[in-house]
Amino acid sequence: MQDLDAILGSASERIDGASSLEDLDAVESELLGRRSYINQQRRGLGKLDPADRPAAGARLQQAADQLQGLIDGRRRVLERQAADRLLADDLVDVTVPRRPVRQGRSHLITQTIDEISDIFTAIGYQIADGPEAETAWHNFDALNTPWWHPSRLESDTMYLDYGDPEDEILLRTQTSTVQARVMESQPPPVYVLAPGRCYRTDTIDATHLPVFHQFEGLAVAEGITFADLKGTLAYFARQYFGPERTIRLLPHFFPFTEPSAEMHVSCFACDGSGCRVCGNNGWIELLGCGMVDPNVFEAVGYDPSDVTGFAFGGGIERVAQVRHGIHDMRHLIDNDLRVNEQFV
Ligand code: DAH
Repeated sequence: MQDLDAILGSASERIDGASSLEDLDAVESELLGRRSYINQQRRGLGKLDPADRPAAGARLQQAADQLQGLIDGRRRVLERQAADRLLADDLVDVTVPRRPVRQGRSHLITQTIDEISDIFTAIGYQIADGPEAETAWHNFDALNTPWWHPSRLESDTMYLDYGDPEDEILLRTQTSTVQARVMESQPPPVYVLAPGRCYRTDTIDATHLPVFHQFEGLAVAEGITFADLKGTLAYFARQYFGPERTIRLLPHFFPFTEPSAEMHVSCFACDGSGCRVCGNNGWIELLGCGMVDPNVFEAVGYDPSDVTGFAFGGGIERVAQVRHGIHDMRHLIDNDLRVNEQFV
């Protein structure tokens, strides 16, 4: 039992010398574990004189309790230190100014498509679309534009597959293709708006892009008249350009509408008195429109004696340019965020 005194004498130094929880576990197993001196002595108690056993057992227990108390105390200290270290490592300085989050936004062309779509869905139109790589049949034939029409020439149009008129595939030159696609696939009545991308061999300038967007409208039902067309376009102009706008329709020619017209909107910048925006005449040309030609109905399998309808189509870039006073369409495809940042 002299060894026990020696152990107790050096114990607190050893326990306090443990600098980590792992160290302390090692010290604990050395002092109190199965092979520790105290446990060896306990196992030997049976060999003692029965009269000496209680006192020796009590002494061992007391020593074990004392060691355990010291170890538990040290463990609490080490645990607190570990927790403090974790907190210090993890410290978040809430006073550091945050990094600014750069917020993205839709491109003006997307915004314009969304806005025009909203204007027409509000009066019951559905949004329709069609492929950009289109058959010449949907782009031309179905729209009363026969094979000999100049706009079908290879040099006018971007063909992906050119040759046999039946399988000609081209990048669509207009969203009017969706008129034919929608009517082919469903019976009347039809009220659709089809926004989408189109392609032409135009040279880039302030008002032309070879890749651009159009929106196409089509309404077909019994008894639709030119007055309905005019009312619908006036509604669109007032929604998109402001409640003061008036429109006028000038005779024009399009193969797939008869009669056809060009729609002008009174200049929002000068209210019709003439200014730079409208080229001094008070009106801005906006889109093409007309009553659907009976030949188009026949091409898609509608009976022209049952239904009438109107169609209209305009450029997305064009209406955005007019409304926002963008002098050069090329800004819309420039890699310069300052353009886009103006349109929230
Ligand atoms: N597709 C014509 C174009 O690209 C625009 C157009 C004119 C569309 C008259 C129509 C329409 O639906 O009726 O120039």
